[in-house]
Amino acid sequence: KVVVQQLRRGIASAGMLAPHLQKSMRDYLNLNRHHVAYRGRRRGRQSGREVLCELKEQARLRTLDGTEQPFSGLAWDRLVPPRPLEQLWGQGSKFKSCAVVTSAGAILNSSLGREIDSHEAVLRFNAAPTEGYENDVGNKTTIRIINSQILARPRHRFTTSSLYKGMTLVAWDPAPYSVDLPRWYRNPDYDLFTPYEERRRLHPTQPFYILHPKFIWQLWDVIQGNTQENIQPNPPSSGFIGIVLMMSLCEEVHVYEYIPSLRQTDLCHYHEHHYDPACTLGAYHPLLFEKLLVQRMNSASQHDLKTKGKVTLSGFSGCIP
Ligand code: C5P
Repeated sequence: KVVVQQLRRGIASAGMLAPHLQKSMRDYLNLNRHHVAYRGRRRGRQSGREVLCELKEQARLRTLDGTEQPFSGLAWDRLVPPRPLEQLWGQGSKFKSCAVVTSAGAILNSSLGREIDSHEAVLRFNAAPTEGYENDVGNKTTIRIINSQILARPRHRFTTSSLYKGMTLVAWDPAPYSVDLPRWYRNPDYDLFTPYEERRRLHPTQPFYILHPKFIWQLWDVIQGNTQENIQPNPPSSGFIGIVLMMSLCEEVHVYEYIPSLRQTDLCHYHEHHYDPACTLGAYHPLLFEKLLVQRMNSASQHDLKTKGKVTLSGFSGCIP
């Protein structure tokens, strides 16, 4: 696929996508479900280092802390974990080296498991399992990012499944672009608040956070600000959110199969028999544009990209203004 080759080189654009993907992009732009009103300007082309520093400055990692309405009225300051996510592993200390493992089908037959587990901390997504796939994806999980569907849909068995035990959990849901928290609380995409409250009460020692929607939309603003075309007015994918989260927690971040290797496939997830190129290139999420931005910050070689689907990024401590 031409668009993936160009993505690896950092020169892809929406016009290179298959017509049906371009059409769904246009449909999402017209729909503007989250009422995005972008007021920023488009920047001239920034270097990878400049993008890193802009992300660090403009998109501050933030989780709900119960100090704002409606959460303050619900005493969420006592419901959320006592320690902020950034301080969970010690104040001011960072993981030396971290892995972000996307759920892309292309990771199958990669034999990357051992390399992934050699990192100090490993981030995984949603319902992606390790059991049965250890050779390709490893088995260490430090943090799992989950979208609100995982918490709300019965088929994920969030309360009982062992997938969500023994690690730090970070959940998110798309709020309106205006970040109207009371409105979001009344009308989330999927109700994540009830299962969150329940799990906090049942497992108070498991670190479990909800990302602040402000953080999500600040990420979107940085992607749009660094892209010449209009990107989908929908939140970035869990993948991009997780990468930036790890850039705050780690000195170095290794991302696997976000930008596809030569194993590139339409297989959506390594653990499901479902084929859709939108999983890799985007329909709802502005995936192509997120990936171009990550490509710009990559310091790993083209060889690593092609053979491992691996991107290496400096953490935010690497941005010295
Ligand atoms: O589909 P899901 O959101 O659970 O996958 C986790 C993340 O992995 C996505 O948000 C996306 O960033 C990345 N991904 C990808 N290509 C795929 C599947 C997932 O880049 N084929």
